[in-house]
Amino acid sequence: MGPIPLCVLLPVTVLAVVVAAAAAENAVDDDYTWPQWKVPLVRKRHTVPLSSPNFSAHPQPELSGVCGIECQRHLPSTSLDDLEQFLSYETVYENGTRTYTSVSVQGLNEVTEWPRNTSSSSRHKREVYGPDTRFTISDKQYSTKYPFSASVKISTGCSGVLVSPKHVLTAAHCIHDGKDYLDGVQKLRVGILREKSRRGKGRGGRGKGKRRKGDKDKEEVLEKEENAGKVDRKGKGRKSRSRRNVESEKPSLRWTRVKKTQVPKGWFKGVSDKMTADYDYAVLELKKAPKVRYMDLGVISSLKKIPAGRIHFSGFDDDRTGNLVYRFCSVSNESNDLLYQYCDAKPGSSGSGVYIRLKEPGQKKWKRKIIGVFSGHQWVDVNGEGTQQDYNVAVRITPLKYAQICYWVNGDSSECQVA
Ligand SMILES: *[C@@H]1O[C@H](CO)[C@@H](O)[C@H](O)[C@H]1NC(C)=O
Ligand SMILES: *[C@@H]1O[C@H](CO)[C@@H](O)[C@H](O)[C@H]1NC(C)=O
Ligand SMILES: *[C@@H]1O[C@H](CO)[C@@H](O)[C@H](O)[C@H]1NC(C)=O
Ligand SMILES: *[C@@H]1O[C@H](CO)[C@@H](O)[C@H](O)[C@H]1NC(C)=O
Repeated sequence: MGPIPLCVLLPVTVLAVVVAAAAAENAVDDDYTWPQWKVPLVRKRHTVPLSSPNFSAHPQPELSGVCGIECQRHLPSTSLDDLEQFLSYETVYENGTRTYTSVSVQGLNEVTEWPRNTSSSSRHKREVYGPDTRFTISDKQYSTKYPFSASVKISTGCSGVLVSPKHVLTAAHCIHDGKDYLDGVQKLRVGILREKSRRGKGRGGRGKGKRRKGDKDKEEVLEKEENAGKVDRKGKGRKSRSRRNVESEKPSLRWTRVKKTQVPKGWFKGVSDKMTADYDYAVLELKKAPKVRYMDLGVISSLKKIPAGRIHFSGFDDDRTGNLVYRFCSVSNESNDLLYQYCDAKPGSSGSGVYIRLKEPGQKKWKRKIIGVFSGHQWVDVNGEGTQQDYNVAVRITPLKYAQICYWVNGDSSECQVA
């Protein structure tokens, strides 16, 4: 082919650019907006008292034999009766009493858009357990700001996230080992990142104030710098070290008692069998509302459409005592109920709220919502024949789980019809 005259080429190029831009804009409208879901109705059937638990279990370091995507495909399909059994739950009150509540599920079939079985492998697959890729949010002025401030520490050694003025979402295994409640649950407390102390107020002068203005959204800055390869996430780089020295007032925690704890029966041994991992979530009600901004729950059918399939979460990893640790990473595989990824994380971060940011329908504003609960490191049976591969796993907020958690938080399922 001979050279094409410039005058022909130019308009074509311009057109291509315009078309591409239009396509990108459409993608933003369609894919980067929180979808609206009609969710099923989870209703209380009846509640019966149970004997007080023994509170004798010890925290588990990791789960194994979790049934992965291929493995789950071989399981018989879940009936409505099964689902109702899995979503029925136990409540433990601070006085040590325990109840069992059975639930009914209505309108499950109306959730048509939710895929029955999805399995996908992200194109942006991360190297398996490469260098440590976590950020320590060691400075109070950021850790007490949203979105970091919504992260809480659970006294059993886990993390959690505020999902209402006084409810915390965490992982079930932080409360219960499948057979009994952990020994720390009787005196369960939640640590909330404390606002700047009075002593620290006003320190640092003008220079500090300026910096704060420039770095308005720490999370965004970290994400951008990381993408540009500017930050050594371990904090060993000269840049981050000097930054830390300038402004380090370690965050501290304010502890609040838990009034009641709710765990789905699907988490209990012998109930959901190979799907136990799907029910690794629990909700705690605090005695006093901490007056801290919480994060809403969101439901997303697939992370494939999200930029780089990227999820974020912050928690209290136990190798960085007293500090909040933030990270983001791409999801490797997803099933209906679980997200498989290689986000760097240590055990203390179990129970963290996994969130993404999308636009609110009809608005330009971006909003973060929790789409999962970080469960932790697990050995996953990937083919149903016992071949195990390790992953970090998060439980997804499905329409059904949204309905349940919303019901736990509101105490009224009619408030929970749209996610
Ligand atoms: C508590 O422990 C005792 C003795 O090990 C056992 O018999 C009982 O079933 C346990 N109760 C509960 C509620 O787990
Ligand atoms: C994730 O996807 C890869 C590639 O498709 C597959 O080999 C692996 O078994 C999947 N993992 C799980 C947990 O299903
Ligand atoms: C424990 O607390 C619950 C909820 O507040 C209450 O219904 C129950 O009667 C209490 N039980 C005892 C033994 O105090
Ligand atoms: C979903 O499962 C059905 C039956 O197990 C199978 O035929 C179908 O191909 C699956 N769909 C996807 C998208 O994997």
